[in-house]
Amino acid sequence: MVDPEKNTSLPTHVAIIMDGNGRWAEERKRPRLFGHKAGVDSVREIIETARSLGIGYLTLYAFSTENWNRPAHEISGLMGLLQRYLQSELKTMLENNIRLHCLGEPERLPTDVRKTLMQTINDTRACSGMTLNLALSYGGRSELIRAMQSMAKECCLGDLASEEITETTISDRLFTAGQPDPDLLIRTGGERRLSNFLLWQLSYAELYFTDVKWPDFRKDEFFKALETYQSRQRRYGRIAVQLHAE
Ligand code: FPP
Repeated sequence: MVDPEKNTSLPTHVAIIMDGNGRWAEERKRPRLFGHKAGVDSVREIIETARSLGIGYLTLYAFSTENWNRPAHEISGLMGLLQRYLQSELKTMLENNIRLHCLGEPERLPTDVRKTLMQTINDTRACSGMTLNLALSYGGRSELIRAMQSMAKECCLGDLASEEITETTISDRLFTAGQPDPDLLIRTGGERRLSNFLLWQLSYAELYFTDVKWPDFRKDEFFKALETYQSRQRRYGRIAVQLHAE
């Protein structure tokens, strides 16, 4: 069991690829949206657990740029779930001091969802207990293209010299600007790939893959992922003996 009292090495930032909703529903001979609905219950439980453990940043991959290619009824079902989730969760977010932030292109979302999202982001802007990043219409490569375009413009205007471009100038132009990079990436649902998620930010993250599908990924499964993280040695390119000398 993860004991938050004793724990000194919980991740500061956890990112999650919530995969397997569709297959979870198909196994039960139900429509895919049934899996996404069950997935919302996991979203609630994982947010609550992360907050109670004192994790500072939680990033959930809720909708990728590639997800726009899904059948229209699945997209509208997901948007409806998102809208209802945001409307129902504002009170809980405020009570738990959770700040909402969006990674991605909110301008591509349906107007009602975008409005609710912006309102929730605004309403929770003073919350400081945990930042909840929802990746919505998010793609890692397009995030990097945006950052590069922004730097190219600044170079053309003479506001930035090419030799001034560093890791920090790039990080500062990503949707996660000002946030620490994820320490732990969790992917549920059995696949072992990044799927265009946080390509820059995940450089040093510990990766945790589980076959458990997202609707079944609850508190106990989250604890398992955190325990695995704690058993890993993070060397950042150094050798073990150097870490012990610090
Ligand atoms: C991947 O499962 C999951 C998604 C594309 C959407 C995730 C959305 C939710 C968990 C619910 C809404 C989110 C919030 C924040 C309220 P999949 O459909 O690709 O599953 P499959 O690989 O089994 O087909």
